Amino acid sequence: MIRSFLRDDDLTPAEQTRVLDLAATLKTSPYDAKPLAGPKTVAMIFDKQTLRTQASFAAGIAELGGHPMLVDGSLAGIGVRESVEDVARVLGRQASAIVWRTYAQDNLELMATHAGVPVVNALTDDFHPCQLLADLLTIRERKGELGGLTAAFVGDGACNMGNSWLLAGASAGMHVRIGSPDGYAPGDDMVATANEIGRTTGGSAVLVTDPHAAVAGADVVVTDTWISMGKEDEAAARTAVFSPYSLTPELLAGAAADATVLHCLPAYRGKEIAAEVIDGPQSAVWDEAENRRHAQKAILAFLLEALP
Ligand code: NVA
Repeated sequence: MIRSFLRDDDLTPAEQTRVLDLAATLKTSPYDAKPLAGPKTVAMIFDKQTLRTQASFAAGIAELGGHPMLVDGSLAGIGVRESVEDVARVLGRQASAIVWRTYAQDNLELMATHAGVPVVNALTDDFHPCQLLADLLTIRERKGELGGLTAAFVGDGACNMGNSWLLAGASAGMHVRIGSPDGYAPGDDMVATANEIGRTTGGSAVLVTDPHAAVAGADVVVTDTWISMGKEDEAAARTAVFSPYSLTPELLAGAAADATVLHCLPAYRGKEIAAEVIDGPQSAVWDEAENRRHAQKAILAFLLEALP
């Protein structure tokens, strides 16, 4: 069966652990495993801006012995010049896997249905599961075990990162608190799914509106831009509503003294996170950015059943 990674709960909790274990091994010896030797080609398409995702997939695919093929989303005109289904059929004949950053989750699912090869979500409006693998790897490096830790996500809980934190955090057995203003919370279905996963892993998910309540005693504090890609025309309104959720030294002081701070980047200092926090001693954001490569190598190897 062809497996894709379209949302965080496409991996069972046991599979998530296996992928994270592999990522840690690959990080220790990045050039030993060549499951994409040939080289096998992995197609990468970006319909939204990118730095970390393109760079980490390209470097990671090369380290696995494969060839990263950048397909220009605007030239391809996916869904405009050619249907998603036809693009999937064509790329699936050229590449061993397809990595796609786009807007609609439905289109990603359509791609996976018709490609005949694994498809990896490199960010949609709804989920950013590769980022969560990197986040969990980073937390493991700092804290050891994930199970039982509390993670607070403050800011735009309705964005891809809020949803992914709920599903991936609960899968890892973590207690996930989303602290976001009214109107910017994740959907009830996401919280329900996270709590359902939590019944088997010991994890849980709650929504709060008070950022201090979200952060209180947390082991991990996470934030993200208030203005996700595609929301630029809402910038002024969002900046006003989210400003009490800024991750300042004062807000962070309510978390555990050794809390780890994460941000998927790009970061806007003085907006969702203070410079003293992102550039301070509790920040793990540069390890987090590096870990994208190790985590994505692991998920590709897992999906291609090419585990070393
Ligand atoms: N929520 C952000 C994540 C950026 C990596 C966005 O979608 O723009």
